[in-house]
Parts: sequence; C-alpha cells; structure tokens
Amino acid sequence: MTSHLRSAQWYGGDDRDGYIHRAWMRRGLPSDAFSGRPHIAIANTASDLTPCNAHLDEVASSVRDGVHEAGGIPLNLPVVSLGETLLRPTAMLWRNMAAMATEEMLRGNPVDGVVLLGGCDKTIPSLLMAAASVDLPAVVVPGGPMLTGTFRGKALGCGTDVWRLSEEVRGGTLGREDFIRSESAMIRSRGHCNTMGTASTMGLLAEALGTVVPGIAGTPAPDSRLLESAHATGKLAVELVREDRTPSSVLTRASFHNAIVALAAIGGSTNAVVHLLAIAGRLGVALTLDDFDRIGSRVPLLVDLQPAGRFLMDDLHRAGGLLAVLREVRDLLDPSALTVTGRPLVDHLDDARIWDREVIRPREEPLREAAGIAVLRGNLAPDGAIVKPAAASPHLLHHRGRAVVFDSIEDFHARVDDPDLDVDADSVLVLRGCGPKGYPGMPEVSNMPLPKKLLAEGVRDMVRVCDGRMSGTAYGTVVLHVAPEAAAGGPLALVRTGDVVELDVEGRTLTLDVPQDELAARTPDRATTDAYAAPARGWERLYIDHVSGADTGADLDFLTGSSGRGVGRESH
Ligand code: FES
Repeated sequence: MTSHLRSAQWYGGDDRDGYIHRAWMRRGLPSDAFSGRPHIAIANTASDLTPCNAHLDEVASSVRDGVHEAGGIPLNLPVVSLGETLLRPTAMLWRNMAAMATEEMLRGNPVDGVVLLGGCDKTIPSLLMAAASVDLPAVVVPGGPMLTGTFRGKALGCGTDVWRLSEEVRGGTLGREDFIRSESAMIRSRGHCNTMGTASTMGLLAEALGTVVPGIAGTPAPDSRLLESAHATGKLAVELVREDRTPSSVLTRASFHNAIVALAAIGGSTNAVVHLLAIAGRLGVALTLDDFDRIGSRVPLLVDLQPAGRFLMDDLHRAGGLLAVLREVRDLLDPSALTVTGRPLVDHLDDARIWDREVIRPREEPLREAAGIAVLRGNLAPDGAIVKPAAASPHLLHHRGRAVVFDSIEDFHARVDDPDLDVDADSVLVLRGCGPKGYPGMPEVSNMPLPKKLLAEGVRDMVRVCDGRMSGTAYGTVVLHVAPEAAAGGPLALVRTGDVVELDVEGRTLTLDVPQDELAARTPDRATTDAYAAPARGWERLYIDHVSGADTGADLDFLTGSSGRGVGRESH
C-alpha cells in the first residue's frame, strides 16, 4: 500500500529530502504516520469573515476523529473562504481564484485525499472545482443551514425576507424601526442561509452529484447529526484513497444529469447553472446550457421552500431531505451515476420517506408540473439567457413591453426612484454592465428593486432583463445571465430606452423588436463601455482578460480541463 500513496513521494526513502519532509511534519506524529497511512487534507473554509462557515472548525474536528479512526492522518488545510454578504465587489469575482488556490495547495502538498468543508454560496462550488482539477479522492461535508429565526411569531426566511421587508419599507407598508428590529431575529444560529438559496442548493446538489455521503446534505448546522456525519465522512475519505475513487470517476455526465433533475425538483437557485457548468468544465464533461432546459424544465417542483414557496431548510430536513425528494423522481434519474460510497445514487433511495407532505410533495401532487430552469434565446441573447419560471409571476411569462435601460447598477440606483422616470408596470427594466467581464464578477443584481412610484401603486413584479446573476433567495420575473454580456459585445449593449422587448418563456425566446439592419447600424452607448474602469493589475485584471461567458460557467479560459495530481519538480 505504501508504494501507491501519493504522499510516499514526499515521505518515502532515506535520503535528505525524505528526512526533511518527515522531520518537519513529526511534531508528535508517530513514525508509522509516514509509512502507508493516507494523508487526508481537510480543506476548511471556516472564517470569521464567512459567518455562514464559522462553525466548520468543529465539523473539521469530527472529520479528524473519523480519519484517525480509519488509520489516516488528518491535516487541517485552511483555504480561501468567500463570505457572500461581505465581500466586495462581489463574492463571485473570487470563486475562480479560490478554486485555483485550493487546487494548487492540494497538488503542491503531500496529500492523498481531501475532505471539503463548505457552506456559504461560493465555497462548495470553488472546492468542487478545485478537487475536480487536481482529481484527488474527495468528499464534501456541507456545513448545513441555520435554524429558522422568527419575528413577531412568524418565521423569517434568511435572505428572501430581507428582499420582501426592504420592498415593504420602500413601498411604505413597513416602518424602518420595525425593519431594523427584524434584523437580529433573522440569523438564529450557526449555518448558512436557510431558504432554497445558493448555499442550500449547492449543498444538496453536491449530494445529487454523488460527492456527499447520501443523506447528509441539508442537515442543519447546529444538529449533532452533522458531527456524526462528519466523523463518518472522515472514515470514508481514507477508504476513498485506498480505492482511488477520484472525482473524475464519480462526476460523470450521469451525475450532472441527476444534479439538474434535483435542481428542478427542489426549486434550486439559478446560480447553480454557472457553478455546475464550471465544475463540469474542470472535468471535461460536455455539459451545456441547453442541458438544463432539456433535462430539467419538465421536472416537477416538489419542495415548498422559500423563495418559491413557504418553508425553510430545517423543515426540508425534518420532512425527509433530498433523498425523499429524489425518490419521487427516481424514474428521471440516471441510474448509472455513482456516489462516493461506490454505489449508485439510486441505491440510496430505497429507505427514503416523506415525513411531511406539505414540505415535500409526492410526485402526484407537485407544486408545479414543470419547474426547471428555462433557457431562452433570440436576438437579445444569441448565446442564451435563463429564467426560473417557478420564481416568476405567471401573468408575465409572456410579455411585451417598452425597455427602460440602465447602463450600470450605479446608473440604476441613481434613476430608479426618480418620479420623472418614464416607466410603468408594463415596462421591461433592462440592466447591463453586470456580466462576468462588465462588473466584473457578475454580481447578484438582476432582481432590480422596482421603481418606488410603481410599488406605491401596488406593482410587485415586472419583467427584468440583465447580464448579471440573481440571488438564489430572490424571486420575480427576471431574465438572467444574458449572453454574450454587454461588455463582451452582446446585443444587450445596443438596446435603447423605448425599444420593445418580448419575453416568451413557453416559446423560449427573448426578442428585441428592432429590425436587424437598424440594430446592425447601432453602436454601444459610450456609457455602457465606460461604466467600469478596469484595473491595470491584480486578480481583477487577470479575471477580466480571461473569464468566459455565463453560458459556459464564467470560469477562466485557462482553468478549464484538469491538470491532475502530478507535480514534476522539487528543489531543496
Ligand atoms: Fe452565506 Fe447566504 S450569506 S449562505
């Protein structure tokens, strides 16, 4: 066994290099730590500046116990952590950087396998991208959602209710004092946002992909069963190394198929589209934007969670969790997709049960028949755009309206509440300059707040079109990820206020009703191209020069594909 361990390249032999590698690592480790025991990194995104992940040190401690028990050597590896609420200009700008840094630290160190600890939105995607790129045996422990907070006797959905309450303040139906009072009630415990936002979605999809021990994802962060699961995962990580069960052997096209089915059945975040495309890109799995529509759009919505529904993540866990949901759509899953256990995902569904049919609907009583993400195309989005019909208003799913155009999010904030803004309930709000290159980093701004004067009239939703993303906790008839983005020369840059835009979700089109010859004669407004002065150096420079479009996952062009686990050189 010693010979095939990757770490033996560092610790084997009695030469000077082996001496240096072992001696500096001893510090209490027994001698047999360097002869045949798998070295398991615990890639830990715990950080006080990522409050959703702050509890992961305790989870890591349980993973350590499990690794030890199975005969491995656990190694704490703090990695770049991205806190969604704090990071500027947007956490998404740093996802690829976090993935690259974690990939390189795993490859450059004597590591045989890795346990990935994430939670807050970008952390699980960046960890999976890293693990896929280095292709070391890897398993995820999702940090889990927080418990439900309550305010004045009512549950508060973390994230979703912030949007709702702030709209009520803007509309004059909620006082600012009450709004601030609700603040301390919203975050009740450790853990990530408890709506079906991006963190919840990616934790569950990591399980649907097969990278989590089935049944763990969605366990609330304070639940002691999370620590039990972390312990079991630590033990499994050692087995993964012994079996050499790598991400490339688990994450196949069949796994992504199952993740897309799961995404629709749980009513998950639209952000999962860019994350799944990016993870697939690291593995060389041919996944396209159209696969989300083809595989997912007809899948029924079975989970009644905010933002599309009523309940929160601890309700979903109590009701049976992801496996109970997947059991209902078993016939739609690809039975060949494996999990980290070595068994197919579908084999883990036999014992799953729905314990609360309000939270998880049985297949014959779905919340919505066809709930997956719809992919739109047309002269406004030649490379595609997406919309989540489950979060949209049914009466707006087919709509024609006059565009009111904003060149940047700053332009939007400066003018949206101007009483003289020429806008009505039928208008289509168009926001550009928010794509991966344009902002840069593709922020979650597409669910633009509605103009104050329309809110006062009782308008609660309008068609909005943007090349940015939308928070997974948000809702509305919002067309997102328009590609190519305006800053990359997409036709979105050519739209003018007053043009008619037509959205037809059933027909899967997004059309700018302007003759092609007139459109060809237009040039982008200067304001569109000048909205952001790109820095001359640093990560932002690298990002802008190399980031791909949202339709392919917004990864850097030179990070697609896997580099594997090999390291060629060493100098001492
Ligand atoms: Fe971390 Fe929502 S802010 S998951």
